[in-house]
Order: sequence, then structure tokens, then C-alpha cells
Amino acid sequence: MSGLIHVAYIISALLFILSLAGLSKQETAKLGCTSGIVGMTIALLATFVGVDTVIGWVIIVIAMIVGAAIGLYLAAKVEMTQMPELVAMLHSFVGLAAVLVGFNSFIELMPSSSITVSANASLQEVATILEQAKGAVAGHAELSAAEINIHLVEIFLGVFIGAVTFTGSIVAYGKLNGGFSLAIFKSKPLMLPMRHWLNVAALVVSFALLIVFMITAGNDAVIPLTCLIVMTAIAFLFGIHLVASIGGADMPVVISMLNSYSGWAAAAAGFMLSNDLLIVTGSLVGSSGAILSYIMCKAMNRSFMSVILGGFGNAPAAAADEEQGEYREMKCNDVAELLKNASSVIITPGYGMAVAQAQYPVAEMTAKLRAKGVNVRFGIHPVAGRLPGHMNVLLAEAKVPYDIVLEMDEINDDFSDTDVVLVIGANDTVNPAALENPNSPIAGMPVLEVWKAKNVVVFKRSMNTGYAGVQNPLFFKENTYMCFGDAKKSVDEIVKGLD
Ligand code: TAP
Repeated sequence: MSGLIHVAYIISALLFILSLAGLSKQETAKLGCTSGIVGMTIALLATFVGVDTVIGWVIIVIAMIVGAAIGLYLAAKVEMTQMPELVAMLHSFVGLAAVLVGFNSFIELMPSSSITVSANASLQEVATILEQAKGAVAGHAELSAAEINIHLVEIFLGVFIGAVTFTGSIVAYGKLNGGFSLAIFKSKPLMLPMRHWLNVAALVVSFALLIVFMITAGNDAVIPLTCLIVMTAIAFLFGIHLVASIGGADMPVVISMLNSYSGWAAAAAGFMLSNDLLIVTGSLVGSSGAILSYIMCKAMNRSFMSVILGGFGNAPAAAADEEQGEYREMKCNDVAELLKNASSVIITPGYGMAVAQAQYPVAEMTAKLRAKGVNVRFGIHPVAGRLPGHMNVLLAEAKVPYDIVLEMDEINDDFSDTDVVLVIGANDTVNPAALENPNSPIAGMPVLEVWKAKNVVVFKRSMNTGYAGVQNPLFFKENTYMCFGDAKKSVDEIVKGLD
């Protein structure tokens, strides 16, 4: 039976890898989801079959019914815009599970009786008795002292990462939800005095506790258990402080970072439980979360450390009122006329399209223009909006064909041959200052070079800045027209004007 379970685990692991590969492209995303579902079903069945007591089965069935009911309820109820909150909450469960598995593994490993050594025993005999004591514990008599030591490190690290993930994810949930009054849940970063030193102190004390834990485990139960409990309390506080000191607008990077932590916590739990599938799955989640965090930081031209150390995502209004010159306005019916006479149009959506929920009229406008023979394409910046893939999800929701939705690198060279660019609720991601002004806070961030087109129409409600809080010289260029108003209402009017 154990051989069959291993085969099932390998098949599940392969399906999870296929799932990740599928999810990397819109065309194959559905297949990716299906592979993940099949992989998880096989994994659950194999785990179920692997349990050899009736009480074990009963407990698993009850847990699965409760879990499935909560999961189905949340999946049916959650809005697309609440997805990051849901993900944050789910990460906290993974963290808590790793903490519980860690404590359980330690309790299993604790010496069950005191050690007695006769007064005239030789040093060699004492050493042998101690070695045996480390191994001779419930169900672990087969482990050597070295293996026990590795297991202890796994437990300590697993509990630490799990505890940080647990409280960090709860704070991230609170910040995204915005409905709590505690300072740690406010969007504004929490700036405690000497905050970096507090983090360093938490890490140093936890390391010292690890050393005491390792030295005392095997001979005693109380001291190592106390070390584990104190470290867990410190890790809970560390997780709260780590995320509370990051601004609400940086939460997408934090969510993907916590995603990575939750993966490592699951992998640590896999080592504790000697479960290969959990190790593989945890590592896949851990590394994909880390890669995603890195890609997001790179696309924003920010160092990962600057996000983690906090303080930026508060969207300062710096340089917002800088004099930039005159801007020109264009009314919706004039935009419709401009579009009717165009042969190529590129739409670059941003956070404002998500806020206005303008994707549906945008899709309608695209269909109408394409029916008139206009070549319409979309240019998607990697960090447009507030989530990885935010714009792609919205456009897919509104049934915009995948093949006209292009990534920034695929479309950036085509702006100079384009008649009209419609910038719908985007700001920082189309800011030429990123390339032209080395002193700009977003200097060096790759952007969509929309200003190279013949005409650019920017849809927004005011001259306010975007997420980075910097003014945008694009709005004052000679070929740029501002179409003020809520993006949904404006595009609705243009759709009517196209008839
Ligand atoms: P932003 O620079 O945030 O600008 C959005 C614009 O939308 C604003 O200027 C706003 O102007 C406009 N807007 C808001 N509501 C609107 C409505 N109802 N109708 C019309 N316009 C509306 O957007 P972006 O270009 O997508 O850039 C994203 C920013 O988020 C980048 O700075 C990026 O680094 C950051 N960020 C992204 C991510 C990910 S993963 N996507 C993660 C963290 C940070 P008005 O107020 O004048 O209307």
C-alpha cells in the first residue's frame, strides 16, 4: 500500500508542476486549474487511504466536510476585488497549521520517562544511554541522534516560519479589509521607534532559544518546550510588526511574500511529518511566491528589501503640485470621432479601470471598433493595477479576446506606429518621467511608452497623482488629451458615440 501511496504522491506532484506551468499563460490557465484540482484530489485520496485507523478516517472526513463547506461558501461569495484578502486569510491557516504540526511533532518526540544512570556507569555507558534517550521516544526509536537533531531544527524553524506567516497574514488581511480601527491594521505603515532593531532583536533572541532548545531537548521536556513557546510568542509579534510597518498599497508584494513563507512553512511541516508530497508542494509554493515577489519589485524598480523594510506604500503626495505646463481636454464625443478615423488603437488600462469597473464598456468599445476594421490591441504593464495579472483578469472577465492582450515588452515598440492610445485609469505605468527624470521616485521603472503615438487620450477624474504620488509629464504633452470623468461613464458615452 505504501508503494501505491508514493506513486500517487509523485503523480500529484507532477500535476502541481503542470498546474503552475499552465497558470503562466491565459490560454492554458483553465487547464492549469484542472491539473491542480486533479492533483489535489489524488493527494487527498492517497492521504485518506494511508490512514490505518477508523478514528483517523472519521477525523479526516469531519475536517474535510467542515473545510469544504467553508471553502465553497467563500468561493461563491468572494468578489474579484476581495481576492487578495481571501488569499491573505488562507495563508494564515497554512501558518497556523505549521505551528500546530510543529508542536505536535515535538510532543511526540519528547522523552516519555526520566533517565536513570547508575552511579558506577562508565562515561561510554552514559553517552550510550543519552544517545538512546534521544532516540527512544514514542515512535522514533528508529531515528539516530543526528536525525533527531535535524528533526528538532525542522520543528523549530517550521514553527517560527508558520507563526510569522500566521500573524503577518492576519495583519495583511486587516490592512486590505480596511474595516478595523487598530493601528496595526491601518493602511499607513506603523513606524515604531527603533523598528529595525526590534526585528533584529526578535531574530537574535529566537536564534539563542534555538541553541538552548537543541542542547536541552532529549534530556528534558520542560526547558525545550518553554523555548518553543517563548519563540512562538516572539514570532507572532515579529509577524505582526513586519507587516504592520508596510504601507497598505505595498500589500500585493507582501501577499506574494507571505505566499512564499506559507510554502516554506508547509515544506517544513512536510519534513516534520516525513511527507514527500508536502515537501514538494511547499517548495513549489515557496519558490513561486518568492519569484513573483521578485518580479513585482523588479517591475516597480524597487528593491525587495525596501518593500520589506516598509514605509513606502503610503503613497506620499510628493511633487504632486509641480508646475508642468498646460493640458488639453477632449470630450467623449470627440474621442469617439477620433477613434472612428483611426486605423490602429492601443488601450493601456490601469488601476482606475478596476476602480471604475470599466472593463465591460471597454470590451464593448473594442468589439465595435474591431467590427469597423480598426486594429485594437491592449498593452499591459506588469504592475498595472494593484495585483499581479489584475488587468488580465478584468479583461478576461469582460471576454476581451486573449490574442489582442499583449505584455509591455511585446507592444512597447509599436506605439510610434499607432494612431490613438487610450490610457484608461493608468498613471505611473505610462509616466515618461521614469525614463527621462533620474530624480523621479519612479526613475528606472520600465513604462509603456504611450507618448510616442500620434494621439494619446487619458481617462481619469482629476489631475491627481497615481500610486507613487508623482506628477505625470505625459498629461502636458502636445499630443495628449485629458478626458475627465469616471472611466466607466466616459467609455459608455464613447460606445454610444461610435454608432
Ligand atoms: P496608478 O498609478 O495607481 O493610477 C491610477 C489612476 O487611476 C489614478 O491616477 C486615478 O486618477 C485614476 N482613477 C482612479 N479611479 C478612477 C475612476 N473611477 N475613473 C477614472 N480614473 C480613475 O495606476 P497604474 O498606472 O495601474 O499603476 C499601478 C501602480 O501601483 C504602480 O505605481 C505600481 O508600482 C503600483 N503597484 C502595483 C502592484 C501590482 S502587482 N500591480 C503592486 C504594488 C504596487 P484620478 O484620481 O484623477 O481619477
